[in-house]
Amino acid sequence: MPLSFVPSPNIARLKESATLAVAAKARALKAQGIPVIDLGAGEPDFDTPVFIRQAAARAMESGATRYTNTEGILPLREAIAADANRIQVQGTPVTPAEVVVSNGSKQSLYNACVCCFGPGDEVLIPIPSWTSYFEMVELARATAVPVMGDPANSLKVTADMLAAAATPRTKGLMLNSPSNPTGAVYSREELAAILALAATQGWWVIADEIYMRIAYEQRAESVLEIAPARDNIIVVNGVAKAYAMTGWRIGWTIAPAAVSKAMTNFQGHTTSNAAAVSQHAALAALAQRDEADAAVNDMVKAFRQRRDAVVHALSAFPGVRYVHPAGAFYIYVNVAGFRGAADPGAAFASAVLEEQQVAIVPGSAFGTPDWIRASYATTESIAVEGVTRIARCLTA
Ligand SMILES: Cc1ncc(COP(=O)(O)O)c(C=O)c1O
Repeated sequence: MPLSFVPSPNIARLKESATLAVAAKARALKAQGIPVIDLGAGEPDFDTPVFIRQAAARAMESGATRYTNTEGILPLREAIAADANRIQVQGTPVTPAEVVVSNGSKQSLYNACVCCFGPGDEVLIPIPSWTSYFEMVELARATAVPVMGDPANSLKVTADMLAAAATPRTKGLMLNSPSNPTGAVYSREELAAILALAATQGWWVIADEIYMRIAYEQRAESVLEIAPARDNIIVVNGVAKAYAMTGWRIGWTIAPAAVSKAMTNFQGHTTSNAAAVSQHAALAALAQRDEADAAVNDMVKAFRQRRDAVVHALSAFPGVRYVHPAGAFYIYVNVAGFRGAADPGAAFASAVLEEQQVAIVPGSAFGTPDWIRASYATTESIAVEGVTRIARCLTA
C-alpha cells in the first residue's frame, strides 16, 4: 500500500505562495512564444559585482570548501559589526558576538521567529507586508496579527495603530523599512515612536532592513541608530538586494548575545553554517568598502532613474493611485474595485497578464487584496512599458 501523504500539523496552515499562480501563467505564455513583460521579480537584475565574484573564486581555490562555525566565520561577523557601526549606533558598538550569519535574511527572520515566539504568542505584522512573515510566525506556532497601514501615509503603521491591535498576548512585531511591497520608508520619528512603544511593552522587534541601502530622496535609517537600547531588538540584513547577491544566500542577525546563542543552536540543528564560499563573497562585499560603495551607488542610481521614469510614466494617468516609492524597487498600485472582483488584485493580475502580457504580483500575497506590486528591477524601457500597460488596463 503506498503511503498517502497527510501534511503534519506543523505545516497545516502553510499557504501556497500567492505569487506562484501568476508566475506559472507567465511561464505558460512565454512557452507559447508570447513575449511577457515580467515585473514580478523580487531581485536586482544586475550581476554580482566582479570584485566579489573574484574574491569568492580566490577563497574557493584557497580551501574555503569545508564546514565553518555555525554562526559564520569571524572575519565576516567582524565586517558585519563594523558595517553596522558605520552608522551612529546608539549605546555600545555592535560586536561580532551579536552576529549570526545564515543562508539569507529569510533564514535569519525564521531563526528569530522560532527562537522568540511560540504557542499563545501574538505577533503584530504591519500590512501590506512581505509575504513570508505570516508563514514564519505561524511556523513558530504563534499567531500573526495583521495591522493595516494608513493609505494616507504610504500604507505605514503608527505606534498608536500597533498599540490598538495589541493584547496581553502580544510578544513582538515585524518591521520592514524600506518596505517590500510598497517601497515606503519609515522616518526617524515614526520608528522612534514604534520602538519606544515596543520597549515599554517588552515586545521583540524584528527589524528587516534588507532594503536599507536602496532608498532615494531620504536615507533609510536603521533601528540601531534610533533605539536607545537594543536588548529587545533583532536586526535582520543581508547581501542579497544591495549587492545583487540573491543567489549566494547570505543573511544575518544582529541580536542580543543570548538570542544569538539560541539562534546559533537552532541553526546548528537545522542547516549548520551558510556556504563557506558565499561567506567569503559576502566578506568582500562588506570589507572592500570603496569598491562596494561604488558598486552599490551605481545600482541605486540606476534603480532611482527607473523609479523616476516609472513615476513619470504613471503621471500620464492621473486616476492611477500608488504608494510613493521612496526605496526598494517596487511600486504598489491601487486596483480597488477592479471589474467588481472579490479579489481585485488577483483579478487584475490575471487580466493584465492575458490582455497586456505583463506579470505582476497581486496584493493578496502581502495581505492587501486591493493592490498589486510591480517590480522595476529591470531595464528602464521594460519597466516604463510595463507600468504604462498596467495603467492602461486599469483605466480602460
Ligand atoms: C522584505 C524581504 N525580506 C527578506 C527577503 C529575503 O531575502 P534573502 O535573499 O536575503 O533571503 C526578501 C526577499 O525578497 C524581502 O523582500
